[in-house]
Amino acid sequence: MGISLPCFLFFFFFLPVFTQSKNTSFIFEGFDEGAEILTEGAVIMKPGGILRLTDRSNNITGHAFYAQPVQMFDKNSSSSPSASSFSTSFVFEIIRSRSVSGGHGLAFVLAPSAKFPGAEPGHYLGIFSSKNDGNASNHIFFVEFDTVNGFNENANAQGNHVAIGINGMVSLVSEPASYYVNNTNHKEEVLLESSQPVQAWIEYDGVKKIVNVTISPGGMEKPVKPLISLRTDLTDVVKETMFVGFSASTGEDSSSHYILGWSFSLNGLVAPPLNFSNLPRPPKEKHSMADDPKTVALISALCIVTALLLAIVGYFLLFRRRGNCRNSESTLEDWEINSPHRWRYKDLYAATKGFKESEVIGIGGFGAVYIGVLPTERREVAVKKITRNSLQGMREFAAEIETLGRLRHKNLVNLLGWCKQNNDLLLVYEYIPNGSLDSLLFNPKNGFLLKWEQRFNIIKGIAAGLLYLHEEWEQVVIHRDVKPSNVLIDGEMNARLGDFGLARLYDHGRISHTTNVVGTIGYIAPEMTRTGKPTTSSDVYAYGVLLLEMVTGRRPTDAGNWMLVDWVRDCQQLGKTLDVIDPLLGTNYMVKEMELVLTLGLICSHQVPDFRPTMRQVMRYLSGDDVLPFVDDWGSADHSQLVYEPDTMFMLGFSRDTFKSYPQQWNSLPAGR
Ligand SMILES: *[C@@H]1O[C@H](CO)[C@@H](O)[C@H](O)[C@H]1NC(C)=O
Ligand SMILES: *[C@@H]1O[C@H](CO)[C@@H](O)[C@H](O)[C@H]1NC(C)=O
Ligand SMILES: *[C@@H]1O[C@H](CO)[C@@H](O)[C@H](O)[C@H]1NC(C)=O
Ligand SMILES: *[C@@H]1O[C@H](CO)[C@@H](O)[C@H](O)[C@H]1NC(C)=O
Ligand SMILES: *[C@@H]1O[C@H](CO)[C@@H](O)[C@H](O)[C@H]1NC(C)=O
Ligand SMILES: *[C@@H]1O[C@H](CO)[C@@H](O)[C@H](O)[C@H]1NC(C)=O
Ligand SMILES: *[C@@H]1O[C@H](CO)[C@@H](O)[C@H](O)[C@H]1NC(C)=O
Repeated sequence: MGISLPCFLFFFFFLPVFTQSKNTSFIFEGFDEGAEILTEGAVIMKPGGILRLTDRSNNITGHAFYAQPVQMFDKNSSSSPSASSFSTSFVFEIIRSRSVSGGHGLAFVLAPSAKFPGAEPGHYLGIFSSKNDGNASNHIFFVEFDTVNGFNENANAQGNHVAIGINGMVSLVSEPASYYVNNTNHKEEVLLESSQPVQAWIEYDGVKKIVNVTISPGGMEKPVKPLISLRTDLTDVVKETMFVGFSASTGEDSSSHYILGWSFSLNGLVAPPLNFSNLPRPPKEKHSMADDPKTVALISALCIVTALLLAIVGYFLLFRRRGNCRNSESTLEDWEINSPHRWRYKDLYAATKGFKESEVIGIGGFGAVYIGVLPTERREVAVKKITRNSLQGMREFAAEIETLGRLRHKNLVNLLGWCKQNNDLLLVYEYIPNGSLDSLLFNPKNGFLLKWEQRFNIIKGIAAGLLYLHEEWEQVVIHRDVKPSNVLIDGEMNARLGDFGLARLYDHGRISHTTNVVGTIGYIAPEMTRTGKPTTSSDVYAYGVLLLEMVTGRRPTDAGNWMLVDWVRDCQQLGKTLDVIDPLLGTNYMVKEMELVLTLGLICSHQVPDFRPTMRQVMRYLSGDDVLPFVDDWGSADHSQLVYEPDTMFMLGFSRDTFKSYPQQWNSLPAGR
């Protein structure tokens, strides 16, 4: 008895808690960067906490789902399980493109997976495709908020409607978007794509098997009477665990679809109420303004006046300003308006004193870098000026830069913003005061010596930055040009990796190819000359070479066929490890650390990619969490046997002219800078 009572209590109290712990409940009033949301497609979380499902590009889809699946079956009634009740509420805003009607729509979705391979944009809302539309094995329940007339069997459905669908685009029920006023039968229309917030509530009663859908203009109390009340049993539709979230798409017509806030509860609890005044608002999109004829007239008038004024100032200026005026009217496209990182040319021009030559602090792989001081904040920035061949594809280009702008890490030179002006693309970075690792290591001023302690700290910093690019961010970013001149050193002597991702821009074929874009001789992994394909492993190779430079104080190659990697390896195998250590360091280093870095450098720059560790492993070796493996097979190290075809060299960033002047291939190529 003395034992069974506590036992009984245990089960009585703890078992129910265990089964109930599956009831999910969450609320997002805005979406922070760390929000538990899985995204796919065009979705971005904008600064300020807005979740944007699509922008106004054509034919795109975006998915955003709560990261944890929800438990849709109540284990309690295992004899005849039925789908759990749920309740959700969210506020969305649809901003249509300049065309008369926007498109396509957005949907709240319950699906077995947060991924929708093959799903099509347009009418399919990014949920289904012509192949699986209507197939019962989809197990998808959704409520759509569509702004375009229905198609196929739904052809009669009006634009601006709310509909419920299961497994396919044929709606079970569809109603014009509206709400019942004060529990009467009088309905008031709600324009979905009005650039105003709209709130929706969806409740499923798992006992009575009823789905209710209610909408209202944002900020209003929830209407008492639901717009749609449909008797339907989701038991056969849902699976045991389901993902909840949103899908949106655009088609030939397009709109930006935003989610401002969202709450959800399972098992009969009402979704936590959203406090409307806490929700973020989307950035102003100028097109909705431009739909207003008055504004258009005003803008046009202003443009004409400006143009006239500038005509007086002079032809040159006139030419340039007309470009601006045109920008703000027609080429200022969605991607520009939607770009939180876009800066004004005017400000950068002022900051760099008109891109004066005296303000140049470096010539990087892609263009000159200017120091600038922002007049308002008195903050220093570095502005990289890239001259492009053409303005085509600016949208993809900007999308890429927007992506890079979201990368943030203490060991990266973070991109603050960008701006385009005529054929120039300007990238604004944090200003890093101590210059590049290359100059500190190889051309130090006033007898400065980078101490081992500092070198080791820099080595760890670069590894952390690379790990972030390779594994910790939402996409894999391959640096492609890891080398000391791309590492900047900040005021606390920490490493900041720069120029990441720029090579990817080159892939879009829009930066003039005058410099090393696939890498720099001496840092290019051997397999790259065959495949031409950069990988995280080729970044690791370059990092390994960099480690050896830090240890030896020597560059990766000289003018002949001497290779740092081979030399260090040979010395190591002959047991003359001490010979390779930078003589300037004397004996002022930790032997353990030195050995670690030296061996790690060799492993990272191993000929065979499979031998190289990942950056995560590198971090573990550097922190002492893991012990370096013993390596006795260093592979063939004979670089001089590699044949560098003219085309390969061209690909590696040497112009054909450069190549002509170095006909004897590798041997006579310039040393590794
Ligand atoms: C689950 O829901 C029940 C009510 O149905 C509630 O009492 C309980 O606290 C919830 N559990 C969790 C972990 O949220
Ligand atoms: C969008 O897709 C439709 C149908 O596939 C196609 O007809 C149309 O040209 C596409 N529009 C754009 C701008 O890609
Ligand atoms: C389990 O189901 C039974 C009847 O099906 C019900 O009486 C009971 O309250 C349920 N328990 C919980 C914790 O929901
Ligand atoms: C439904 O989808 C399943 C699995 O994808 C497939 O095997 C089946 O053939 C599809 N049924 C129809 C009618 O298309
Ligand atoms: C709804 O009811 C409120 C007060 O109950 C009243 O102020 C409001 O005017 C009513 N709205 C309409 C459209 O009747
Ligand atoms: C759904 O709407 C009906 C009719 O207004 C109402 O009786 C019922 O309580 C509602 N159910 C839920 C779960 O809100
Ligand atoms: C909503 O948030 C505002 C500001 O945060 C606060 O003042 C207000 O009391 C909140 N309203 C409710 C109903 O919680």
